[in-house]
Order: sequence, then C-alpha cells, then structure tokens
Amino acid sequence: MSTRDDIPLFASSPTNIQFDNKGRLRHFLSIEGLKKKVLCDILDTAESFSSVPQQSIKKVPLLRGKTIVNLFFENSTRTRTTFELAAKRLSADVINLNITTSATSKGESLLDTLHNLEAMHSDMFIVRHAQSGAAHFIAQHVSPNISVINAGDGQHAHPTQALLDMFTIRRHKGEFGALKVAIVGDILHSRVARSQIQALTTLGTNEVRIIAPKTLIPAHAETLGIHIYHDLKEGLRGVDVVIMLRLQYERMQGALFPSEHEYFHLFGLTEEKLSVAKTDAIVMHPGPINRGVEMDSAVADGVRSVILEQVTHGISVRMAVMSMAMQQGENE
Ligand code: CP
Repeated sequence: MSTRDDIPLFASSPTNIQFDNKGRLRHFLSIEGLKKKVLCDILDTAESFSSVPQQSIKKVPLLRGKTIVNLFFENSTRTRTTFELAAKRLSADVINLNITTSATSKGESLLDTLHNLEAMHSDMFIVRHAQSGAAHFIAQHVSPNISVINAGDGQHAHPTQALLDMFTIRRHKGEFGALKVAIVGDILHSRVARSQIQALTTLGTNEVRIIAPKTLIPAHAETLGIHIYHDLKEGLRGVDVVIMLRLQYERMQGALFPSEHEYFHLFGLTEEKLSVAKTDAIVMHPGPINRGVEMDSAVADGVRSVILEQVTHGISVRMAVMSMAMQQGENE
C-alpha cells in the first residue's frame, strides 16, 4: 500500500488531541483553536532560546537522551534543516529518515513505518507530507509517549512556519494590535497562509489583508475576518508588514493565471509598488523564493527584507515547540 492510501483526505479538527489530559502541549499540528496565551508562551520560550547560538557551546541539555525522527515525505530545505539544528541544540539524538531510500519505496505502509520507528524507542516525529491531514492522522496512531510536530501537510497547515513569522514580526514591530499585515500571492494553495491568518487573528492583529487574483483566493475567504484585495498597490497602502508567497505549481490543477510575466506585472513586488506601504514596512517570504515571479531581487535583497532573519528565528521557535511538547512526558 502506498503511504498516501491510509490517510484520510481531510483531518478533523486537531485541537483536541494537541494537549494531554493535564492541558499540556503534546502534539503541535495546527494553530487553529490554540489560545493567544499558548502562542505567546511559545514565542516567549523561543525568545529565551535565541541567545543559545551566542554561547561558546551552542547547546542546552533539555532533550538529552531523547530521540527525534525527521520524517519528510516532501522536499524541504529550511524546515528540515532548522528542525534538525533545533533538536541538536536541545541535545537530542536526531535521525533523518531518507524516504527515497527507505522501505516505503518497497510498499511498506505509513503506519508500518511508524510502528517500526516506535520500536526503536523514538520520542518525537517531525512530519512533512504532501497530503492534508497526514500529521493529524499520525498523531492519532502513535503510542502515548510520542509527540508529533507538523512540519507542513498539503494545503492544510504549517504551524511552526507561522510562529517563526510571528516571532519575526514581533521582534520588528512589537505587539500586533496596531499592525496592518498583507499576505500576497497564491493564498489558495498555501498552508503557510492558512496558519499565518490563524496566528495573526489569534494574536489580535489590527488588520489582516490578502492580495491575489480571484483564482488564487480560497472559497469563503471572506468568513476568515480578513480584507480581500485584487489590486497589489491598493492592498499594500499603509501596511506595516508584507508577506509574499510562492506560486505553488505542484498543487495547481490547470492554469490559474495567464503567464508568469503577467503575474509579475500585476502581483510581483517591486520597490515602486512597495513605496505605498509604510516607510518602515518589513518584507517577508517563507521561502523558497522565485525571483522575478513573486518578487524582484532588489526587494528580496533590499533593506526592508527580513527573509533570512525568518530562517534564523525558525531554529529558536522550533526549539521552543519541541521542548514544550516533550515536557508532557516528564514527571509522570
Ligand atoms: N518555508 C518552508 O517550508 O521552506 P522549505 O520547504 O524549504 O522547508
């Protein structure tokens, strides 16, 4: 059986299984349903970890003796690497399962793979999968001592990406209540946008805008409490934060815009279009960037870009999530 065959297409709400029976974080699957306090606790914990790289030994012993398995069924540069670094900075032992050379290529089911990794006394699975609901499905089937962290599932959620983005915004702009934030691009296929909108609204952002062609806006987006724009300059006017997204061709069925050239002309971020945002607005992108498609290199590498800072903050945010999820198994 293929790894996809045993995963239901859509997960039910994951919120109830993210906490143990004492209300402590056990899995981290989605921002949806999490209270502002939980998000702030993670951001504050990440803040405390951000000085670890400045120590002569870039490690803390919090997860010494724990075994963390990176299970990436879909490609990744930033997320996989920063999860591995975060785990190592917490002194955990890390296994990166190479899916292409693993026994899944011989027909082993996802659950059989997981049960074999459990038999090796793993403590945590970090899961990326092309199918929405995969991390939730895995969390429902693992042993009670194992935590599951969602590293991106289909079009559904990428919660640690959203939190590292919130961490970056908070570092530059302080509290969220006065901020106008615009998310630009392929909202329809973006798990990052879904998680960002949930995090921004939970944290009390003054105004969240999405800017995209009509074909790249999800149905019922107006029910999310956000403002929808189809004109880039109109949507960027007066914003504090601009978050650009990649066109996700791997999830598109059919042509949703005339050409990349046309898309860049209308929705690509240039210095000229950015000039209508606040003068101190920051520019973000979760990566990977397609230069000349969603943004000009002059903007990607410009003084307002905090794109590489986002990557750095991913390490401390992931340290925070992993250490908090591991606490639930302690002192039982
Ligand atoms: N932002 C992000 O998820 O990037 P990767 O696909 O490289 O992990």
